[in-house]
Amino acid sequence: MLVFLKLGGSLITDKTREETPRLGIIRRLAREIRIAHRARPDLRLLLGHGSGSFGHFAAKRSRFLGRTTLDPAAYARVGAAAARLNRIVTDILVEEGVPAVSLPPSASARCSDGRLQHLATASIDTLLAGGAVPLVHGDVALDDVRGATIVSTEDVFVYLAKDVRPARIILAGEVDGVYTADPMQNPEATLIGEITPATFAEVVELLGGSAGVDVTGGMLSKVRTMVDLVAAHPELEVCVISGLEAGRVEEALTAGPDAGGTLIRGLC
Ligand code: IPE
Repeated sequence: MLVFLKLGGSLITDKTREETPRLGIIRRLAREIRIAHRARPDLRLLLGHGSGSFGHFAAKRSRFLGRTTLDPAAYARVGAAAARLNRIVTDILVEEGVPAVSLPPSASARCSDGRLQHLATASIDTLLAGGAVPLVHGDVALDDVRGATIVSTEDVFVYLAKDVRPARIILAGEVDGVYTADPMQNPEATLIGEITPATFAEVVELLGGSAGVDVTGGMLSKVRTMVDLVAAHPELEVCVISGLEAGRVEEALTAGPDAGGTLIRGLC
């Protein structure tokens, strides 16, 4: 059983304050991951994390997107910001007993007009087979058309899903699923329990951007990416859950698709 788990940037950082990691939350999540990983010997796990107020702020400030040639200073700055958060997350995971091995996508990623075309994956199978937990993250990437671009964790998951075929993808954010409006701002917002390629058009209108600075399109673009993925791989299920509620990530890793939140699936 292979599962991809993303710790969203809005969960592990304060997305409204530059380079502010939520250290207590990262540590609690690391413990939940360790418990689930040890409790289920059949569970192979690949982790990813967003960039939150690290990469998104750096990208906005250096006007990273919208160029047609590589700006080396901006590329280095945004890549360094993404790597700083990755250092923090990796260290906490390892301290808490999760054998996380960081594989920064920018080391090998090549994109064409924003689409990820190549990523080195050779070591992932070996790490998974040996019981290690490969760790990827949202990162900068070279781009044949734009010079440089940003790949989200979801983009990386989509690329990897072709090769290593996860049974489930869990996206843990600060909200327990996809809502009809932003539940942080609108008390009338209701949870959408399930999204399929057939119902996606209806929910597009309802989904807004995310709070804070987000250069990769917020919740809507992440859900769209996942809907396209389950349409191509109907055996795959994607859960969107809250990582702010203690125990939910552990439960999602051990209990399966009934862990609440929103289920995105290809089969109706
Ligand atoms: C964004 O990655 C990467 C950078 C801005 C460098 P994600 O799209 O995966 O991050 P979050 O979850 O939105 O913060």
